[in-house]
Amino acid sequence: MNNWLTISHISKNYMTEKEEIEAIKDITLEIKKGDIVSIVGSSGCGKSSFLSILAGIQKETSGSFQFQKKEPVIGYMLQSDCLFPWLTVYENALLGLKIRKQDTEEKRQYVKDLFQKYHLEEFMNKHPNELSGGMKQRVG
Ligand SMILES: Nc1ncnc2c1ncn2[C@@H]1O[C@H](COP(=O)(O)OP(=O)(O)OP(=O)(O)O)[C@@H](O)[C@H]1O
Ligand SMILES: [Mg+2]
Repeated sequence: MNNWLTISHISKNYMTEKEEIEAIKDITLEIKKGDIVSIVGSSGCGKSSFLSILAGIQKETSGSFQFQKKEPVIGYMLQSDCLFPWLTVYENALLGLKIRKQDTEEKRQYVKDLFQKYHLEEFMNKHPNELSGGMKQRVG
């Protein structure tokens, strides 16, 4: 099996008080290392549900998926920015490192370099409500 990711017959149903919603149905897909894959579809067709399952945020109802690596590095930018409004965007960006106790000077410099790379260095000390939607997504 040379696939970076193998997805077999994944389905996801949500149970609400009123009904059961079939969000995704029987997705099978193989992704090779280096592939760039776009998931395209109309609003509500299940794209976010699918990606949340692959990122481990939600559990599939049936089917399975397997990454080639035991602990793959996954970067997942959620649809909404999910930034904490009471923190500056720089503090938001550092939060993950702080929680993991990896908040070193070297990593802070890396975060600053990323702000520069994404043309956000002028906004580092602002709060999320002072940024545009696209800027917040880049911070996310
Ligand atoms: N937590 C939930 N509880 C119940 N139903 C949900 C939940 N999340 C999503 N759904 C339903 O599952 C279906 C797929 O939703 P999903 O958010 O995955 O779609 P999407 O393709 O990302 O849409 P969009 O393009 O609008 O972001 C929709 O019918 C939605 O109403
Ligand atoms: Mg979505």
